[in-house]
Amino acid sequence: MNTTILTFDTLDSTNTEAIRQAREGAAEGLCIIARQQTAGRGRLGRTWISEKDAGLYFSIVLRPRIDARYLPLITLMTGVAVHDTLVEFGVRPDIKWVNDVHVNGKKIAGILAETAETPKGLAVVVGIGINLRPSSFPPEIADIATSINQIVGKISIEMLAGSMIKYLAYFYDLLQDTDGNITIIDEWRRRSSYFLGKYVRVSVGDETLTGVTDGLEWNGALRIKRDDGSVTIVQAGDVENLRAS
Ligand code: BTN
Repeated sequence: MNTTILTFDTLDSTNTEAIRQAREGAAEGLCIIARQQTAGRGRLGRTWISEKDAGLYFSIVLRPRIDARYLPLITLMTGVAVHDTLVEFGVRPDIKWVNDVHVNGKKIAGILAETAETPKGLAVVVGIGINLRPSSFPPEIADIATSINQIVGKISIEMLAGSMIKYLAYFYDLLQDTDGNITIIDEWRRRSSYFLGKYVRVSVGDETLTGVTDGLEWNGALRIKRDDGSVTIVQAGDVENLRAS
């Protein structure tokens, strides 16, 4: 994948800008980086607080050549890429299904994949936020978030972005290869303590269920083994670890 990086001082959201550019015909591999976002967003309509230089705020335009049924795997593939990027900087992360990267149970990075119809076909914009230093988060967030600076000290944001792009390009190629879904699920399994045997509570809309994780389906959906032995397949939801590890 050829990549082009556009860097902005301030944007509403790098995902919004990447979608805008994808609709105008941007090629796959366009990367948007902002030093701050005024309307950074996360999953489920949440706000992603994006103070100046406190994080890497990054989005990439993809035009995947995979069956639409496999599109959810783009989020998992990105989690693997973010994981390996952080390892390169001395951090030892875990991936929490489906889009969170944690260190010692605290969130260090989040992923938001969004699709957009464009004149060149469907584009997927993958947004990644990685905490670089502690921001003035409200206390309820400060307690559950961490940053690279708190773990390994100051690092270069340019080097972090470069490493991210390298791993994204690598795992994106793997995803698009023959049996790419199996490969990505296997790579994810090796990096996530949530793959198997984790006692969790899952919120799906207004409903919650508890059970033990039991691997992933072929499209990345999470299997939960319930107390009665039945298996529930979760396509989208929020997962919470019920036992401190
Ligand atoms: C989440 O954990 O809910 C996903 C957070 C994704 C945040 C990133 S920051 C760069 C990109 N631009 C956005 O507005 N969101 C994503």
